Amino acid sequence: MSKKMLYSLLAVLMATTLVLSACGPAPTEAPTEAPATEAPATEAPMTEAPTEAPTEAPATEAPATEAPASGQVEIFSWWVGGGEAAGLTAMTEVFAQQYPDIEFVNAAVAGGSGTNARAVLATRLQANDPPDSWQAHAGQEIIGTYVAAGQVAPLDDFFAETGFADVLPETLLPLISQDGSPYSVPVNIHRSNVMWYNPTVLEEAGVEVPTTWDEFFEVCNTLIAADRTCLALGPQWTAMHLLENVMIGSLGAEGWNALWTEGADWSSAEVTAALENFSQALSYTNTDAAQLADWQPAAQLVTNGDAAFNIMGDWADGYFENPAPDGLGLTPHEDFDWAPVPGTDGIFVFLSDSFVLPANAPNPEATNAWLTVAASKEGQEAFNPVKGSICARTDCDQSLFNEYLQSAAADWTTDTVVGSLTHGVVANDAWKSEIDTALGLFLANPADVASFQTALVEACASDGVCQ
Ligand code: GAL
Repeated sequence: MSKKMLYSLLAVLMATTLVLSACGPAPTEAPTEAPATEAPATEAPMTEAPTEAPTEAPATEAPATEAPASGQVEIFSWWVGGGEAAGLTAMTEVFAQQYPDIEFVNAAVAGGSGTNARAVLATRLQANDPPDSWQAHAGQEIIGTYVAAGQVAPLDDFFAETGFADVLPETLLPLISQDGSPYSVPVNIHRSNVMWYNPTVLEEAGVEVPTTWDEFFEVCNTLIAADRTCLALGPQWTAMHLLENVMIGSLGAEGWNALWTEGADWSSAEVTAALENFSQALSYTNTDAAQLADWQPAAQLVTNGDAAFNIMGDWADGYFENPAPDGLGLTPHEDFDWAPVPGTDGIFVFLSDSFVLPANAPNPEATNAWLTVAASKEGQEAFNPVKGSICARTDCDQSLFNEYLQSAAADWTTDTVVGSLTHGVVANDAWKSEIDTALGLFLANPADVASFQTALVEACASDGVCQ
């Protein structure tokens, strides 16, 4: 499929405004668990014979096995830091119970949003040395990057054997599929557009939670007059995370979707206004943002009372609420609180972590075992309440989730859903990397909105949908 067709497909998907079918129970759902549809825990799931010689490309599905899988499974992710590592551990515990003969090898590389990890992964993939499975975002990161490069294998048989498609929200499946074949196993849904705040800081300054960017700037002015940092920021990827949220809050869901759809106009006055809001938002951030190690220290500025707001995905909830040493053990509504990013009430900016089967997988039986746990109700119910995400599956038991996550699950079913740039949904790696380069230059000179916009127009023309 051509790049244009790919983007058109994505556009169509997004233009349906992705009012998604249920993650989390319908209000009428019985409190007892729905019968699990995944393969029984102890069963080795794939039973069909391999159809191609192992050296042949493209890679085949995981081959058949009657014997229990054994050996090692090397799983690559960036879940290392506070809140994130604990989620992975919870899933590996399920894996250890179900596949005691397979040793889990944790190949995680530190660095939020995968900035470092994905560079390491790219080198390994180039050297034809893939891990047995790796973390990949649903959307263009998979379809426009790994599938386009022939680095991952289709999972038709896995989906057929496990019935996994039946328990996925219907709009998620196209974002992991090409030509009707699924290419990854989504394990969660994260929300990008959360504004975390310190209720005490707001109360002491006598300000309300802002709902528009203009209100946000007024609140920031009051906070600055009271000698407070308004908006906590970390390293560059968190600035891209802020950028997408300011843009969506300024342009609305339709305006945002149009930027990733054929015929996009990145030179419009609306985009200029959105970038001006971003420039102004940056002016209220901590001066040491680039020096902070990652998103956790920036989020902690808020919980410590050093800053009022942090715009971050809901992995921050895992970090805030998990007991030490995995998290900060904080109390919601007291130590921290949350609201939609200004201008995004009713919009759910989503991303989904998933795991893939490499093309020419070195150890396909072990990969298959990992994917089986990642797809399973038990695996997702262990992982997500700790990770600070909701299940990709639609049948998870909501009573296992805290108040914030239950509210996210409810919003996911009712809000207008749009895709994240920073976390791989709307742009492939090539386009995203050009945007990131433009952003880096802009952060060095954040008053020069005109040059930034020109660079974004050029990025869209060379790698995006604007040709
Ligand atoms: C995202 C990822 C999340 C979380 C976050 C911060 O890209 O999807 O699971 O890990 O980065 O590291």
